[in-house]
Amino acid sequence: MSWWLADVDATDALGAAMANTRPDHAVVHLQGDLGAGKSSLARALLRALGVVGAIRSPTYTLVERYPLASGGEAWHLDLYRIADAGELEFLGLDGDEARLWLVEWPDRGQGGLPPPDLLVALAVDGVGRRVELSAPTEVGQAWLARISAATATLGSPGLS
Ligand SMILES: Nc1ncnc2c1ncn2[C@@H]1O[C@H](COP(=O)(O)OP(=O)(O)OP(=O)(O)O)[C@@H](O)[C@H]1O
Ligand SMILES: [Mg+2]
Repeated sequence: MSWWLADVDATDALGAAMANTRPDHAVVHLQGDLGAGKSSLARALLRALGVVGAIRSPTYTLVERYPLASGGEAWHLDLYRIADAGELEFLGLDGDEARLWLVEWPDRGQGGLPPPDLLVALAVDGVGRRVELSAPTEVGQAWLARISAATATLGSPGLS
């Protein structure tokens, strides 16, 4: 499943569609080069989940945790700066509280992360971004179907 996101508003719309249709527990891997729009989509998702206040990029902290009104937490990780997946152990992430994992640069944490339900691949495309969603698990496949249905009725001109 692929969309063109004309601007940040379109990214926000996709993030809201993902938030509104999310399963109880999901692991999302956000892939793409520097500046592809991974943090923008993660921020949109977290906002739509009701996170208020600053949403900092976890570039240096590696992880930012957000309590969710519905219970549990959303964890936003950016693994760009880790040297190897072993460093993840020191973060004390046992995953019990995490209902939603949003992981930037997941390839750098290989072996130390739970397997993804949803793969989000972002790339610069003209003035906007191309986003491709794929789902390696059944939970992810069902979610992707709901995202697709939700975006179909959004009517956002930037989502095509
Ligand atoms: N759909 C879009 N259309 C145009 N610009 C966008 C879109 N989505 C995000 N951007 C812009 O792209 C820039 C980089 O976005 P962002 O920080 O989300 O990238 P990133 O993939 O997280 O990068 P990094 O790997 O450095 O963390 C920001 O200026 C953001 O406003
Ligand atoms: Mg980022």
